[in-house]
Amino acid sequence: MKLRRLYCVPFALVLGCSSSGTVGSDLERQVEELVAQMTLDEKVAQMSGDTVISGPYGDELWSVPGVERLGVPPLKMSDGPRGIGVLEGATAFPVAMARGASWNAEVERQVGEAMGRELRAIGGNVLLAPTINNLRHPSWGRSQETYGEDVHLLSRMGVAFVQGAQQYVLANPKHYAANSIEDTRFNVNVTVDPRTLREIYLPQFRAAVHEGRAASVMSAYNSVNGQFCGENEALLRGILKGEWQFDGFVLSDFTFGTKPDSARNGLDLEMPVEFVFRDLAEQVSSGTLPEAVIDDAVRRMVRKKLEYELEAPSPVDESVIASAAHLEIAQQAAIEGSVLLKNASGALPLDAASLVRIAVVGSLADTANIGDTGSSSVQPAFVVTPLQGIEEAVGDSLLIDHIAKDVLDGDDLAAIEAADAVIVVTGLTAEDEGEGLIGAGDRLDLDLSPERESLIRDAAAANPRTIVVLEGGGAITMGDWLSEVEALLMVWYPGQMGGHAVADLLFGAANPSGKLPITFPTGLDQLPPFDNVTLEVVYDYFHGYRYLDRNGATPEFPFGFGLSYTTFSIENLQASQTAAVAGDVVRFSVDVTNTGSAAGAQVVQLYVTYPGSAVERSERELKGFVKVTLGAGESQTVEIALPVNQLAYYDVASSAWALEALEHAIHVGTSSRDLPLSTSLAVAAQAPVSLY
Ligand code: BGC
Repeated sequence: MKLRRLYCVPFALVLGCSSSGTVGSDLERQVEELVAQMTLDEKVAQMSGDTVISGPYGDELWSVPGVERLGVPPLKMSDGPRGIGVLEGATAFPVAMARGASWNAEVERQVGEAMGRELRAIGGNVLLAPTINNLRHPSWGRSQETYGEDVHLLSRMGVAFVQGAQQYVLANPKHYAANSIEDTRFNVNVTVDPRTLREIYLPQFRAAVHEGRAASVMSAYNSVNGQFCGENEALLRGILKGEWQFDGFVLSDFTFGTKPDSARNGLDLEMPVEFVFRDLAEQVSSGTLPEAVIDDAVRRMVRKKLEYELEAPSPVDESVIASAAHLEIAQQAAIEGSVLLKNASGALPLDAASLVRIAVVGSLADTANIGDTGSSSVQPAFVVTPLQGIEEAVGDSLLIDHIAKDVLDGDDLAAIEAADAVIVVTGLTAEDEGEGLIGAGDRLDLDLSPERESLIRDAAAANPRTIVVLEGGGAITMGDWLSEVEALLMVWYPGQMGGHAVADLLFGAANPSGKLPITFPTGLDQLPPFDNVTLEVVYDYFHGYRYLDRNGATPEFPFGFGLSYTTFSIENLQASQTAAVAGDVVRFSVDVTNTGSAAGAQVVQLYVTYPGSAVERSERELKGFVKVTLGAGESQTVEIALPVNQLAYYDVASSAWALEALEHAIHVGTSSRDLPLSTSLAVAAQAPVSLY
């Protein structure tokens, strides 16, 4: 099918702009000229969704009117974080949590770009992604949609996605802010102190709009410090548009996210249809709402339409949809995001040549299990299940007993006993977790179901060579079944190519290189409370690894952890300087060697601690990482850049970022709990400092 030309030529003609776009004051002049020509009704119409549009996908893309007579194009939107939701046959990528586990921003940039391309190919221009909410607690039903529990990792992955997607469409980081409970999401009030808000819940949004240049942001449903995010003056006008000088537009989360004071307080667009905003024109005419508020909102949307050349879409052919190239990106993301959590006595990789028969066990082994049923769901043309991937990988060279159930009988156990290796595929599904209302909501118990735990135990009791492939969108607590299995590979919801990725990893065509983007605790007692019934919650500074570090708790698997089929040495930590002042960028380097016999990738992680800080700090904080791929025996010196201003804390008294005079300790290693190399960096006090 041919790409429809969505936007009228006059937009470019009226403005006299070229297809190469416009910048700076030229752009602002053009924005002003256009807005000045609009009537109040035309302006207000652009501030609410209007789903009645034409075209092959028109009924499914959410639409926001432009101004036809001026050639100002409409906005056309789709979710979401794991693929293009409205498009049947879209590429289904691994969920964001899996991609967070890749610690590979370049792959994430490619994922964003591929999604942007598919959306543009069907005439869409706003992608309702990425989700960059910090996972305060793994019970959050939408855990799978975000990149993890750490602001630095969230920032890096969010920026990469936005930059990729915005090659084709406008990105929409969401949900601003502190949205991390599902069942009460429409009305819970999150009380969060200013330091926690600035340092833990907002930096990834700041990075997405500053560094990623995200064109739009979606506000959250919940309220923060007593005001709903969709009308939160401090968040919208104060921080986002004021301090961060965001010049794009803010749209509401859908249906329940717009509130009476939304327009006045900085929300530019009500989605998906006009409801609260239906009397905006009247409010202006009666003098209740200044027209300047309307002008500002419209200016922001017109600015982004111009800046990103939405008036002249570069033709993207529909052949990009689920193309071989996109499927390869999906498979690569699934490979890179899978985390090898246990591999006793080198159980993995399996050597197909030395095996005669294997058993592939569990109801999920041949189930398309690619994520929840909420707004982020995607309908790919096919899903390669783990069983299919394994069958394709080993061909006829192996006998495969497929036992497609979770409750095993005597015959099943006999087949398991007779196998040279047993692969149990199990975990969570959309019935266990997901978006509220349209999905399963929060997951209060982090264990697998008793039935699935028994499945693992029974298989492992029948055959010591039992390998578990675990699916799910977040942390799973394991109890003693973990000690009974030989190997454990966490593959999350690995997308439509997941089965191939699983087979590649199990049989050694690929080497696991994922690292946990969240802590896997031993139990709920290691975590802060999670209450999805009360309408008042408090978010303090500590969650995830920061919380466990502070309490001296030992998790099942720490943040940043993941094994490989090869071994690495990391040596010779060097710093470009040992003392620094505000504005400096200090470069730390280490020599990484692949000391094993297989090619593989390692994620070098840099954490900072603040000995003697006058304010309460995390025991350690991730501040940089780099993923390096090395052949067997190969070495490389890798560098991590640390902008010194990133060491600042938010000083509540002065409402500004401040660097402390401190001998910062720098730790480098391969997980938050394995940091063998250390050095220090003396930083001079400075306040205020700018984070950009
Ligand atoms: C979700 C958003 C989503 C929107 C449109 C809302 O319920 O919270 O993440 O983009 O629906 O599907």
